[in-house]
Amino acid sequence: MTAEQTPDPDPDVASRRLAAQSLAENDPTGWFEKLYAAAGEGRAVVPWDRGGAHALLTDWVGTAEPSGAGKRALVVGAGMGWDAELVADLGYDTTAFDISPSAVAAARDAHPDTKVEYVVADLFDPPAHWRGAFDLVVEIYTVQALPIHLQPAATQQVTALVRVGGTLLVIAAARDEVDGVEIADEVVEGPPWPLTRAAIDAFATGDVRLIQLDKQPSPSDPALYRWRAEYLRD
Ligand SMILES: C[S@@+](CC[C@H](N)C(=O)[O-])C[C@H]1O[C@@H](n2cnc3c(N)ncnc32)[C@H](O)[C@@H]1O
Repeated sequence: MTAEQTPDPDPDVASRRLAAQSLAENDPTGWFEKLYAAAGEGRAVVPWDRGGAHALLTDWVGTAEPSGAGKRALVVGAGMGWDAELVADLGYDTTAFDISPSAVAAARDAHPDTKVEYVVADLFDPPAHWRGAFDLVVEIYTVQALPIHLQPAATQQVTALVRVGGTLLVIAAARDEVDGVEIADEVVEGPPWPLTRAAIDAFATGDVRLIQLDKQPSPSDPALYRWRAEYLRD
């Protein structure tokens, strides 16, 4: 194994290195496939692979008790598929997509008996028939994984997937604050690029309303905060 093939002991360092290369090549999403492919070959670790559904999603499910019978759900940037599996277990006819073919393959491998349809798709160019088609859209950590200048377009694409009467659930890292003031875009060294309160509000456009917003310490690191935002399309 050469030095290049040796997995970095800190998965965040490895993913940041791949991200830095892609960003320098003006390919802001290219590093995801490189990372998942390297992880598939044992050369990297996917830093956000929690081995289970996100705790804030599990908590929301426990409180909201959504019933998915006869309904469709879409999981954005689904990664290893843990959140999609939880959503499918609620009875939703669930589609989960990711831009990385290796992520989609890994999700299928990790959940061989899945009811989820895992597909490769780009949030910036989703299939036209997905527009306004889903009763539940779950977005966890995808928009924040994109450079800040791409986030408004990504946010708009997420929102457009929600059906009238449907729910959008967004879970994201919250922008750090100094003395109660969010730090400026220019000083955020992503990825990730945690979302400001304004970025959370930006999901509520047109007939999409923010109906519940929580800001809680991260389950894995209480020094960091997470948004959980629930929206409804009227
Ligand atoms: C930080 S990871 C989060 C993965 C998963 N949602 C989770 O919480 O474990 C961001 C994911 O979004 C995917 N992604 C990034 N840009 C995307 C795009 N334009 N379209 C679809 N997926 C994208 C990446 O491949 C990656 O799996």
